[in-house]
Amino acid sequence: MTAQETAARVPAKVNLSLGVGPVREDGFHPLATVYQAIGLYDEVVVRPADAWSLRVVGDRRLPLADVPTDGTNLAMRAARLLAAHHAVDEPVEIVVRKGIPVAGGMAGGSADAAAALVACDALWGTRTARPELMTLAAELGSDVPFLLVGGTAIGSGRGEQVTPVMARGTYWWVVAESVRGLSTPAVYAEFDRLHADAPAAEPEIPDVLLSALGGGDVAALGRSLVNDLQPAAIRLRPELRQCLDEGLESSAHAALVSGSGPSCLFLCDSEEHAQQVATALDRRGFGPVSCARGPVPGARVIR
Ligand code: C5P
Repeated sequence: MTAQETAARVPAKVNLSLGVGPVREDGFHPLATVYQAIGLYDEVVVRPADAWSLRVVGDRRLPLADVPTDGTNLAMRAARLLAAHHAVDEPVEIVVRKGIPVAGGMAGGSADAAAALVACDALWGTRTARPELMTLAAELGSDVPFLLVGGTAIGSGRGEQVTPVMARGTYWWVVAESVRGLSTPAVYAEFDRLHADAPAAEPEIPDVLLSALGGGDVAALGRSLVNDLQPAAIRLRPELRQCLDEGLESSAHAALVSGSGPSCLFLCDSEEHAQQVATALDRRGFGPVSCARGPVPGARVIR
C-alpha cells in the first residue's frame, strides 16, 4: 500500500419494506421503505494518479464484466462530483473490490458511490460536512445517502431522504443471488405495467414492522416484510418464485425479493439457522448463496 492510498468498506442494503407509489412526473416513484445494511461488502480504494481511471476486481462468481469501468460508473461519478464540489484537481485511480451482488437489487453500485465519497474525502482532506455529503450522495442515486448512514433507516422521497429507526438485536439473512442481474428501471417499468389499470396507492410503512424491529422480534418481522416490486421482478424472472418457496420450505421465517431483484432474501433466527437454510438452497442449485447479519454501519474508511 502506498502512503497516500485510502480504502473504504461499504455494506449491501436490503429493504425490509418497500412501498412504491405511482410514478412521478420526474420518472421516479415515491417510496416508503425501511432499509437495513447487511454484512456483504464492497471495498473501494483510491490513490493519486496522473489521470482518472477505474478497475473492478473481486469475487470470480460475480459477473464483474457487467460493472461499467468508464465515466458512468457510480464510484467514478462520486469521486468526480466531490472533486468538482471542492474544486480539487487531483485525479485518482479507483479500484472497486466487489463482494456485493452485481445488479442484484442490493445497491452495489450505490454502495461503491458512497464508499468513493468517504474515501476521496479522506484522501483529499476535504472534510466535507455530513449534510453536504448527504446532498451529494442524493445527486448520485436514490440509495446512496442510506449507504453513507447504514444501520436500519426509513427512506422516503425517492429513497434519498433517510431517517434512522430503532432496531433491537441482530438479524440473520441468507442471500441467494442470480447469475444474471436485473435492470432496476426495467423492474420499475414492469411495476407501472402491472398498475396500468389500478394505480398504486400512496406508499406506507407498516406499523407492525416498526414494532417488530423495536422489540427485536424476528418472527414478527418475518410476518411484516413486504416488497411492492416483488410481483414485477417475478414477472420478469418467474424462476424466483421457486427459490423463495424453497427457502420457506427449508424453515426460513420469511422470503422476499431484495429491492428490484433478482437476489432473494431469507430471514433466519441465528447464524446456525442461516447456514442450514443456505445449505438447503445450495443443494437445490439456487444461488450463489451467502449468509450475512444486519444491521451494520454504512461506508467507513478502513485504511
Ligand atoms: O436513483 P437511481 O439512479 O438509483 O435510480 C435508478 C432508476 O430506478 C431510475 O432511473 C428509475 O428508473 C428507477 N427508480 C424509480 N423510483 C425510485 C428509485 C429508482 O423509478 N424511487
